[in-house]
Amino acid sequence: MRTVLLVILAVGLAGLGPTLGRQPAAGPPEHAPEPSAAKITAVNDPDKFAWDLFLEINRPVGAEPRAVRWDEWGDQAVMYTDPNAPPVWPGAKKARNLRPSRQHELRRLQSAPLFAAPGPAPSVPDRGPDSEEVRMNRAGFDYVVQNGLWYQQGVIKQARAPGGIKFPTGAISIKALWKVITEADKPRYHWDEYQPPPVPNQPNQPPKQIIGLIALHVTSKVLPNWHWATFEQEDNPAFADLIGAHDSYGMIPADVKPNPQPDKGYKTALKPELLARMKAAGLDPAWGHYRLKGAQIDFTDATGRPTILGNSITEDGFVATSSCVTCHARATAMFQSGGGGRPAFTHLPVFNPAGQSDNGTPKPEWFWGPGTPAPPIFYQVDFLWELSFAPKYRTVPEDTK
Ligand code: HEC
Repeated sequence: MRTVLLVILAVGLAGLGPTLGRQPAAGPPEHAPEPSAAKITAVNDPDKFAWDLFLEINRPVGAEPRAVRWDEWGDQAVMYTDPNAPPVWPGAKKARNLRPSRQHELRRLQSAPLFAAPGPAPSVPDRGPDSEEVRMNRAGFDYVVQNGLWYQQGVIKQARAPGGIKFPTGAISIKALWKVITEADKPRYHWDEYQPPPVPNQPNQPPKQIIGLIALHVTSKVLPNWHWATFEQEDNPAFADLIGAHDSYGMIPADVKPNPQPDKGYKTALKPELLARMKAAGLDPAWGHYRLKGAQIDFTDATGRPTILGNSITEDGFVATSSCVTCHARATAMFQSGGGGRPAFTHLPVFNPAGQSDNGTPKPEWFWGPGTPAPPIFYQVDFLWELSFAPKYRTVPEDTK
């Protein structure tokens, strides 16, 4: 209302300008900036956007030593434990829950014939204990709670609803992988102390370990198909193997070619401007040892060639075919009748029969059956694979919260 009045006033004054001896209030319209001149960083400079996110989410917080923002987010290991009760926002750093890489476990399961076949086994990751965690920020977490996505029936119900599952633009999810490091390694890693879970019926319990972050996936719903970025610790021996690395914003050189031999390591640096931004944001200097391997915002390049991006740790064994956005487009769910009993909660396979990632444009037949109108075979769950795996079957009626 106030704006409208001001505009009317301004127009009025401008009209009076010559009479009152004043300059016109606004220049001629051809001098106004074109609406298309406004840059959207996530799209026009996806590498910079990846670092903008990195600087935000790795800020120190709270009283816990070395706690960063994402330590306080919703932990997948906790969020989906009780299908009958909504998860509670942690809001503080809690004991870390690590598990073996689910992706690598699934690959072994889904490509079992490949691993059982005679001859050299396909590359299986062996980079120390695969220790992984997955977390979601407040915007994503609240969406899960408000839409009942922490249990299977809720996922299917929302996926069937007219808008489907659609996270808000502020949602961010991360996946982090750690390895055991030594005291001497500490300055080069974002590190933490980790207490492995107790082993039942064992007199000697596992001692505390020092763990260092080796891989960090970050995905942000700032774009409808999400913005995808992956970071690695600079000493990862296979960092740019097979597919190279590309970071036009932060890395020297911006383009790293893959070594002819695997696991030989890479020498790169961060630009001083980026290091200065890290310092200004209060980040621990150890973060200067991380590199953006790449960012991905589309299924293909402008000529229709699939875009490829994979982390040497998390996507080890299928880096050359890895496409974050394509594989995650296959994150799906469907109830299949289990013959009278509880329905089976199913999804598209994560890997193709060769144990590799799908890449390029998603195929309608993944999601739709034949016919008009095409019946859904699998509902997309908005690119988050955890909604295919983590939710359990609710056993109390939905109105009892
Ligand atoms: C071949 C399939 C595949 C590819 C390629 C892939 N992912 Fe994933 N991703 C998964 C699966 C399966 C999970 C769920 C299991 C888990 O938590 O590891 C997952 C989990 C995640 C999560 C946690 C949120 C979620 O989906 O539940 C993030 C964030 C993530 N991936 C980012 C990435 C990024 C970034 C890339 C590319 C650099 C990538 N992924 C490539 C299969 C894939």
